[in-house]
Amino acid sequence: MIMRVLWMGVILLVSILWVSCDKKEALSEVVERGLNVSRQQAMFLAKELENQEGKLPRTYENNELKTVSYKSWVSGFFSGVLWYLYENDSTEELKKYAELYTSRVESAKNMTSTHDLGFMLYCSFGNGYRLTHDSTYLTVLKMGSKSLSTRFDSKIGAINSWGTRGKWQYPVIIDNMMNLEMLSFVAKETGEKSYLDMINAHAQTTLKQHFRPDNSCYHVVSYDTITGLPHAKNTHQGYADESAWSRGQAWALYGYTMMYRETGRPEYLEQACKIARFIKSHPNLPTDKVPYWDFDAPDIPNTFRDASAAAVMASALIELSQLDKSVDASAWFDLAEMQIRSLSSPDYLAKPGANGGFILKHSVGNLNKNSEVDVPLSYADYYYVEALLRLKKIQNEK
Ligand code: GLY
Repeated sequence: MIMRVLWMGVILLVSILWVSCDKKEALSEVVERGLNVSRQQAMFLAKELENQEGKLPRTYENNELKTVSYKSWVSGFFSGVLWYLYENDSTEELKKYAELYTSRVESAKNMTSTHDLGFMLYCSFGNGYRLTHDSTYLTVLKMGSKSLSTRFDSKIGAINSWGTRGKWQYPVIIDNMMNLEMLSFVAKETGEKSYLDMINAHAQTTLKQHFRPDNSCYHVVSYDTITGLPHAKNTHQGYADESAWSRGQAWALYGYTMMYRETGRPEYLEQACKIARFIKSHPNLPTDKVPYWDFDAPDIPNTFRDASAAAVMASALIELSQLDKSVDASAWFDLAEMQIRSLSSPDYLAKPGANGGFILKHSVGNLNKNSEVDVPLSYADYYYVEALLRLKKIQNEK
């Protein structure tokens, strides 16, 4: 009798496991579903702004589409989304829109007043050049890199991010790591070695000054222009100077993973793994792995998630899982998979035709300024689509 009950228990357990395994959507299906929704949304948005010259999508707030010109740091993300979708599905319509929205960013190449040229030009023209080899795109990337390089100071060993804003001498924000990829690409394409020296100096200075003992990072480090040493460590978009602003941690993770890919320097891989460990083991990372806007926000769990931080983290973790040859690699992949599954659920992924044509819901731009809170953002969409394609490539290579 006892044996019979035990056997029935085992059979019941196996059946429950079977059904629950069976129910889980295969990752390849999640990827295809995500790409399908992304394509529908991007086409919707592309058509919406097609005849509004110079306009590029930023967010959708209070039922209104908000746009920017080429001058904004987010100007290049939408064409980047279109290029990724074209890479996945080479239709003439996607190419036409990718070219159109890329062309709207071109004037940014001459801007020397911003450090964001990597975001603006590499996501747009960089992806365009990678997929089409159009030499005019390379010319824009070269010009943009020249403009960006004017912001480097060899005494400090970093590219300047912002003006003084009344309190800083030479502010460098963690986000600036993301702008190094364009310089690396152009250096390799043209042999301009000074750009490689510049990005290594910036990455080394940031590694030394931006990180805390727990491997989280400050948002802003400002350097004294006479001594070349930090005189202030602050936040701008995070909860507090000493808190871990989630997107900042994401930029750091992505930046050092990318720098290891570009240079092969082991200290960058080591730093990326340390950041990944900080994120993965943080007690305030929710079970769906989409972080709150700041890991130290005082009102957790009653505060906003930042889907953009999750998308940037997921894309970086997928790459890190391929570059890191240690036993940790599968943990990076698993965390990214959980983030992508969450972002691809109805909690975050828009219904086709809704969300103003943006792909993901629930990001936070700058909560301190009550700006872009709990809204879609073009960079959340960009890094989500990039992550989906990175997953698809890995699956295709298996
Ligand atoms: N680079 C600005 C931001 O992450 O909001």
